[in-house]
Amino acid sequence: MSKNTLTVTDNRTGKTYELPIENDTIKAMDLRQIKVNPDDFGMMTYDPAFTNTASCKSNITYIDGDKGILEYRGIPIQDLAEHSTYLEVAYLLVHGKLPNLTELKDWVKNITLHTFVHENVKKFMEGFRHDAHPMGMMISTLGALSTFYPTSKNIGDPEEIRISTHRLIAKMPTLAAWSYRHLLGMPYVYPDNELSFAGNFLSMMFKVAETRYTPNPAVERALDVLFILHADHEQNCSTNTMRSIGSSQADPYSCVAGATAALYGPLHGGANQAVLEMLDKIGSKDKVPEFIKSCKAGEGRLMGFGHRVYKNYDPRAKIIKKLADEVFDALGRNPKIEIALEIERIALSDDYFVQRKLYPNVDFYSGLIYEALRIPMDMFTVLFAIPRTAGWIAQWAEMLNDKDQKIARPRQVYLGARGQNYVPVRDRK
Ligand code: CMC
Repeated sequence: MSKNTLTVTDNRTGKTYELPIENDTIKAMDLRQIKVNPDDFGMMTYDPAFTNTASCKSNITYIDGDKGILEYRGIPIQDLAEHSTYLEVAYLLVHGKLPNLTELKDWVKNITLHTFVHENVKKFMEGFRHDAHPMGMMISTLGALSTFYPTSKNIGDPEEIRISTHRLIAKMPTLAAWSYRHLLGMPYVYPDNELSFAGNFLSMMFKVAETRYTPNPAVERALDVLFILHADHEQNCSTNTMRSIGSSQADPYSCVAGATAALYGPLHGGANQAVLEMLDKIGSKDKVPEFIKSCKAGEGRLMGFGHRVYKNYDPRAKIIKKLADEVFDALGRNPKIEIALEIERIALSDDYFVQRKLYPNVDFYSGLIYEALRIPMDMFTVLFAIPRTAGWIAQWAEMLNDKDQKIARPRQVYLGARGQNYVPVRDRK
């Protein structure tokens, strides 16, 4: 019988150590016993950007990057995108199972009840510059929400967790739509609780003078599917931020503000905006080969391609590509799709991309849909943040109940100077 252990020989000392293996991992702390001298600190692993370090055990989202598989709580993303709704998926992520009819009704009711925000939140948002980026407004306003719900810092109280979960999922579309209306200089639209989650968001974005906004069903469904696809993605940069801030026992609004900030960057949630900027820059289909050549020469990245985990076609990109066709059928074809398809065609047969296993990711086609829905580029990352809130909260709550977790505090390999003399400023060269 083979043993579930790893034998390590330290060639500096000739000593051998036997480390237990659990779930194909070894505990980093088991390496600490490996020392040359008894007073050494002990061996650590060096893993910038956590490329091969599991920071938690999780039951929420499964990804097989080589096979291009994504499952929430064991259910394939394709099935959820086809049959479910975003709110049902949010329940699945948070509660670990699909709701029965009564549970679903209660959940939808509870979320819907919390779509409104305190009037002072509106005043707070009105204070931003006229051209403030919606993501900057989101980050700050989410942080500000913690001041409206001071008891949310009682993270040991399940009732506080329950109500913060409802509030955060419910209020994200309101804050998101208002950040957009602010940019346009248009009055903020209050939530319409008779509409669906996606329908209400569209109403708060686009309602003008009509008594009631009626969403286009194709647009409403497309948005809901995009929300499902973006709801969670295990330990990505923003989720890791959510867990890291949460590990200090900060309240969930502050954690979501931090996670939203992490999402803002162009290598994470900002990539869909970067894709459209890239398509604009390329301008036409015939310029694609030249552009791809410049990416291969290291002059820039092919945005919307490549992923830390997927080394195959991102399953979300496949669904979004199909969804784009449905949206274009309803609203008209976005001409930039021709440039995108040409990029995909050339890149997938180019050695550079094939060897590095660089495939289209979730952001490659989503921006084209958003543009067809008349959603401006500055809002793209905000549209990612709305549904990811369910994943962030599910991951945060899982961390709070995980006895292995402590405050996140990585180690470093210090290579700087030691024992330097302090030189008074007047004596410095
Ligand atoms: N275009 C050209 N070359 C690339 C690209 C790209 N998009 N992505 C990776 N490479 C190359 C990179 O230059 C490197 O080549 P070499 O080995 O010769 O140095 C190799 O592929 C490995 O890249 P890496 O930077 O080590 O890979 P990573 O896992 O650190 O980066 C990534 C993952 C997503 C940051 C990266 O692929 C990238 O910058 N892609 C473009 C931005 C993008 O689309 N981001 C959205 C990610 S999906 C949404 C989300 O989950 O947030």
